[in-house]
Amino acid sequence: MNKYSPNFLFVFILLTCGAFFSQAQTRDVITLNNGWKFNKGNHPKAITSNYDASKWKNVTVPHDWAIYGPFNKEVDIQKVAILQNGENVPTEKTGRTGALPYIGEAWYRNEFSLSSFNKNKKVLILFEGAMSEPEVFLNGKKVGEWKYGYSYFYFDITDYINSTDKNILAVKLTNVGLSSRWYPGAGLYRKVRVIVKDKASIVQWGTFITTPIITPELAKVNIKTKVSGENLKLVTDIFDTDGNKVSAIETTTLFNNEFDQSIGIENPKLWSPETPYLYTFVSRLYSNNELKDEITKRFGIRSINYDQKTGFSLNGEVRKFKGVCLHHDLGPIGTAVNKSALRRQLQILKDMGCDAIRSSHNMPSIEQLELCDEMGFMFLAESFDEWAKPKVENGYNRFFEEYAEKDIVNLVHATRNHPSIVMWSSGNEVPDQWGTEGVKRAKWLQDIFHREDPTRPVTVGMDQVKATIESGFGALLDVPGLNYRVHLYEEAYEKFPQGFLLGSETASTVSSRGIYKFPVEIASMKTYDDFQSSSYDLEYCSWSNLPDDDFVLQDDKPWVIGEFVWTGFDYLGEPTPYDEAWPSRSSYFGINDLAGLPKDRYYLYRSRWNTEDNTLHILPHWNWKGREGETTPVFVYTSYDSAELFLNGKSLGIQKKSSETHQNRYRLMWMDVKYEPGTLKVIALDDNGNPALEKEIKTAGKPFKIVLSPGVKTLKANGEDLSYVTVSVVDKNGIPCPTATNQLKFKVEGKGTYRAACNGDATSLELFHLPTMKLFSGKLVVLVQSKEEAGEIKLSVSGKGLKKGKITLNTLN
Ligand code: GAL
Repeated sequence: MNKYSPNFLFVFILLTCGAFFSQAQTRDVITLNNGWKFNKGNHPKAITSNYDASKWKNVTVPHDWAIYGPFNKEVDIQKVAILQNGENVPTEKTGRTGALPYIGEAWYRNEFSLSSFNKNKKVLILFEGAMSEPEVFLNGKKVGEWKYGYSYFYFDITDYINSTDKNILAVKLTNVGLSSRWYPGAGLYRKVRVIVKDKASIVQWGTFITTPIITPELAKVNIKTKVSGENLKLVTDIFDTDGNKVSAIETTTLFNNEFDQSIGIENPKLWSPETPYLYTFVSRLYSNNELKDEITKRFGIRSINYDQKTGFSLNGEVRKFKGVCLHHDLGPIGTAVNKSALRRQLQILKDMGCDAIRSSHNMPSIEQLELCDEMGFMFLAESFDEWAKPKVENGYNRFFEEYAEKDIVNLVHATRNHPSIVMWSSGNEVPDQWGTEGVKRAKWLQDIFHREDPTRPVTVGMDQVKATIESGFGALLDVPGLNYRVHLYEEAYEKFPQGFLLGSETASTVSSRGIYKFPVEIASMKTYDDFQSSSYDLEYCSWSNLPDDDFVLQDDKPWVIGEFVWTGFDYLGEPTPYDEAWPSRSSYFGINDLAGLPKDRYYLYRSRWNTEDNTLHILPHWNWKGREGETTPVFVYTSYDSAELFLNGKSLGIQKKSSETHQNRYRLMWMDVKYEPGTLKVIALDDNGNPALEKEIKTAGKPFKIVLSPGVKTLKANGEDLSYVTVSVVDKNGIPCPTATNQLKFKVEGKGTYRAACNGDATSLELFHLPTMKLFSGKLVVLVQSKEEAGEIKLSVSGKGLKKGKITLNTLN
């Protein structure tokens, strides 16, 4: 199709109407966001139509009912020995699941009408995750149930529909204690949709698109489409990103209710993290030549290969994963999925040079995968943290036998068309690594993945490396993944047959943003009276290591195919090394804190991962009243090889990266600096020793003024979009105050609402949704949410004795 053909005009008109590639009137997809009633406790009568739920709380979905707290030490106290952490004696773990009240039963209720329903229609209800053990009722009858809170699942509810104008949906959720190792969240935390389509239609998750042959001239695209109905024909068109039709096919031959279409695309543009090019296909299903159904999907053309000699390659180019592990919670908004929150996370990671995400240790949200396709991240989609043998008493082990296969099938079917996914994981550090049963289970699960998707390999994150070498567990995996255990990489490489290893989980270094401890030394499981960890980035866990130890393996061993750092962002729960120390309630592992603010480590990873832009970062901050004359080491994280440091204009010498120690290889360190207030300046030197870039930090005076800096200035007026506004304080001269802890208050007016705040302090018991919070290390973020009307939003932030901060944001339809 050229630009002036009638088809182009048709596409153009659709585009300008804002309905480009929209679903035709053949199917209705109703997203149930609004109108929900919610109540904790057991309310079995709520399934009936005459039940009075008027006193229940009005909520919107996605919703996390536990994030509003309060934090409570008693919630889900786990008296356990964490075997994976090498513990033998049980101790009381307080904040392990975030100390938020996620345990108990809760009910959701909604009503919906189905104007397009008639006897020729089929109706599905789709949940993209429900925490947990959902039971679904429609018009007084039980429709079905699921168990795993992270699974996508749907039910056919055609036979339960009473009328076109009022259907009563009720969902019961049950969370039990001792069921998780982190904050799982609670509620309908992902989207719920009702799909009305013709009986002759495309099956839910019934398409599978692959790109089996790719040459510079031509890509062969294969689309398999499962359908129901009689006398069917499937017409598929493929469009490039500009809306030009690049290929089309019409098929009438059906085998086992499946169309199999192979289509060529000339001069294909390939998908990669650097060039996340997406095509779109539209499939139209006709029965007796009448249009019955239509679906639209984006896809990418890319090849992946895992080779014994060369390791991993994407589109024929060998590369290593520069990845991070992420839990599903979004800090201050809990687990309620929000696309703009996920987009912000990925933007931060992109700037760091990260190119891959591992959804530890469960199914990712569809929103996250869509963003990874668009923004260019490779994805390792994981399924389970437990198989049949428990890690926590009431964990997934309760459901494994009955559900594991169904959960994997749904994971693969719901997500396999995302080009970002390049690997599956069937488990993380499962205790089934021990014993012959576990070997069988590993094989069984991997075979299910292969059956459902022959195009991607399967890994398991293994921590019991010796046991998996002995038992054959590691040898049978497509990709042997090692969690930590850097000292066993060589042995595993030699004994496993695959020829390569993945650092499926690395580092677990701990730090608190803006907090530095003295003396500066490498330490394992180090704790302090204030329950913080040092941002000199030298503290790790007894089972883990420092980032530099991974870098050495990544750089020196061609057979290591990359790493996934634990973790990209802090998350709720698992406050190691303060598992027993109340009030610690969130993690210290993040490269970024719980608010999404970068810790120093961000710049360490950026200095090697971001190859487009230079990095030059100094730590610690330079406000050390009382440390005058004391040794206060200065570290510089930079993409340059050497740099010169100056304190108040006096040179403290040049440091150059060297192979002396792992740290010397990746960091520039001036260990003997004696603190004096003033200006600390670093000048990076190029390969010829000439100044290339400089950076300075200064000692600040007293906090004077509040400064606001918004992530996004223009939001979508959709009632969901978020702007993360970073709030900090500066002194009279505009110098940032890095140790400020002022209590601040937030006010949002106009076409937006105050959603939450977070300061990244893992020990804070202030509630995220209340409009006041203390600064932590001089900063916090405020989340402002759009309403459904366009206009201006005003945020003002005040604090005692401080000049107010004010900002205006805009929302657009
Ligand atoms: C790993 C585990 C992660 C997390 C991490 C903390 O062993 O897979 O879920 O617990 O340790 O270091």
